[in-house]
Parts: sequence; C-alpha cells; structure tokens
Amino acid sequence: MTFPLRIRPDDDTELRRNLYDGKVFLLPPTTSSLRLVDYARACLTAELGDTPRRAHEHYDDAELFERVGRVRRRVYTEPEGQRLFRDTVADVGFPAAETAFDPARVRAIIHGAADNPRAAPVYYPHRDTWYGHPGSVVTVWIALDDLTAEETFVFYPGRFDRPVANDSEIFDYDDWVSRGWSLKIGWQDRDASLRARYPQVTAEEEYGPEVGFSCRAGEVLLFSGSHFHRTLPQWSGLSRFSLDARVVHLGDHAAGLSAPDVDNRSRGSAVPDYIQPHDVDAMTDG
Ligand SMILES: [Fe+2]
Repeated sequence: MTFPLRIRPDDDTELRRNLYDGKVFLLPPTTSSLRLVDYARACLTAELGDTPRRAHEHYDDAELFERVGRVRRRVYTEPEGQRLFRDTVADVGFPAAETAFDPARVRAIIHGAADNPRAAPVYYPHRDTWYGHPGSVVTVWIALDDLTAEETFVFYPGRFDRPVANDSEIFDYDDWVSRGWSLKIGWQDRDASLRARYPQVTAEEEYGPEVGFSCRAGEVLLFSGSHFHRTLPQWSGLSRFSLDARVVHLGDHAAGLSAPDVDNRSRGSAVPDYIQPHDVDAMTDG
C-alpha cells in the first residue's frame, strides 16, 4: 500500500471524493505553502529565538506555553496567516470561492512533554470530527521542518469507517467557545487542559495497523477529519512544529457529501465560525 499518496487526481471533485473515501495525500510544497511556512517560522523565531526546535532547552514549560501561545494567536488570527493558508489550499484544490476554513494553528510537540498532564489531550487518539467538525471536513497539515516518521503522527486506516469506543458526546462546540476563543486557539490559559474535558477513547482496543509518514517542510498533507489518528510524543531531543487547519467544501457540505461519520457524537458545529468565502474579500492585501 502506498501511504500517503503523492499524486492527486487532476479533478478537484475527484480529489474530494477520494478524501471522503479515506485516501490520504501528501502533496508537493506550493509557492504559497512555502510562504506560509516561512511566515510561521518567522513568528516562531521572533518568540523562541533562532532554534525553535531546541526552545525547550531555554525556556521552562510556563514560558514556552506563553511564547508558543502568542505565535498561535498571531498565525490563527492575523490576516497574513489566513491569506497564506487560503492561497495554499486553493493551490491544492480547494478554491477560495467554494471553501470555508478554520485557520491554521501552530502545533508544538515539545521534546519530553508527553509526561506533562497539561499536554495530555494532545496525544489522545481521536478523529478531528469529535471536536464539532462535520464529516465533510478535510484536515490540512503542514510541517515547518523536514520530519522523520517518528516525528509526525500515525493513522489507523482500518478504523476510518469502523467505530471506536469514545466519549465525544462530552464535547459541545458552542460551550467550548462561549468564553472567548482562547481555549479554541490554545493560548492564554495554561491550565485549561486540566479543567476542560476533551474527547478520548473510552476502552482499550486493538485499532489495527498503524501507518505513519515522513515529510518535508511545506508539503501539504490532506486527510479526512474522520480519520482516526494519534500524535507521537517527541523524545528525540528536538521539538516538532507544524501547522494544521480544517477546510470544508461548501457545495459538498450542503449536498451532504462527506466521509463516514461512524462514532462522532460531539454537539454543535464549528462551521459557522469558519472563515467563509465572503470573508475572504474583506482580507486586505498588504
Ligand atoms: Fe487531529
């Protein structure tokens, strides 16, 4: 089995159908994805210095959380990051006029942080749909550095369309964002993950074969948000930085085209809060 696929169908509709069928694509960097990577890296170095992957050697947990949080907020909320992300997904088959998106979050998997209870939810095996995203959601994941398979995450393809025992019913999107977006973006409140409950599996199960991937900075990984996957803890001495964001093709969403949604009981929908095509017009260049 070739995993992930390196070549996408020429036709955008076909690409989306493949994604809803569970195919995973790792596509070459585009001009915009490389610009997005440069932008995110510049935001990181402004906070963490010239070697962000070694930032854990220089800052304690609290300081790192604050600094990475500021980068997250900036990349997620500022027009430059949103524009670069919009252009990146347009490059790979999701035109701005047809696509709503939840902007890119900087994800930091800090070396040695897997035993920190505050970081625990990061490592829960999950589907992105358990967080109030619809079955039509496609996750876009981009590494900021060249990474080995041990530094990325793993999929359980056999569980794409087979339920796993989980408690996604505890997640209510509207409740999650009701006190502002700091929880959603993941900044400001370091102890939030100790108080908030996030969906996780509820039984020890054999999930079947685990499939990982290596990648280069700026390559664009596309997969259905219904995929069951798990982030790998980092113990290599280097922290790992990536971007992830979610897109929905509004035509497909309205038509009910989507991946299987076999065990998602989360409540509410994040889609109304996505950046909509008409919002894109309001993003001034500059
Ligand atoms: Fe995820």
